[in-house]
Amino acid sequence: MELFKPTACRIGLPDGTLGNRTGRYEKRLADLDGLYRDEAAFAQAVAEGGERIVYAVEEFRPTEAAGDLIFGVTRMQPGLIGDEYFMTRGHIHKLANRPEIYQGMSGQGLMLMESPAGETRIVEVGPQTVCYVPPFWIHRSVNTGAEPFVMFFCYPSDSGQDYEIIAKSGGMRSRVHADGKGGWVARDNDLYRPRTTDEVAAVQSSAR
Ligand code: NI
Repeated sequence: MELFKPTACRIGLPDGTLGNRTGRYEKRLADLDGLYRDEAAFAQAVAEGGERIVYAVEEFRPTEAAGDLIFGVTRMQPGLIGDEYFMTRGHIHKLANRPEIYQGMSGQGLMLMESPAGETRIVEVGPQTVCYVPPFWIHRSVNTGAEPFVMFFCYPSDSGQDYEIIAKSGGMRSRVHADGKGGWVARDNDLYRPRTTDEVAAVQSSAR
């Protein structure tokens, strides 16, 4: 059999580039409709610059075969919509029992995680911090700093992503806001609708 050739990928900081990448995608502010609680502030920010990139991902995806790994670098700009920090769309893995590793490279942020039953866990991530996202946890990263937030990530190739699980519940249970003193505070999302027992069971049965 033909073996995949070993490869080194150099991470560029603070730009969040990945040498030898196989792919790249960007999310612009206008792509992130529905994420932020303050819809008027979001509409105004889009009117002022909806084309600006909020986050970009550069990845190395050798194959999508079970047992392989996908890894890369994510870079998120600093910013607020109203008083809510810039964040990724967030997802759970389609094969929900697949975990993920994130390592902070530069900047400061956090990983907002939610179990299907609605438990919230927040892990602050800075340089040299490794964040373990266990199987079955919805995850979203948030830039709580003043600089671009860059992380390395790695997850099993057959994980897949389900973005709809968050939208279906009216967002994640917690939102991350500026606390007015230079830090962050997590507040309950008043639009959140808890998953039913059947919905939680459906997530658990997506494992294989
Ligand atoms: Ni993931």
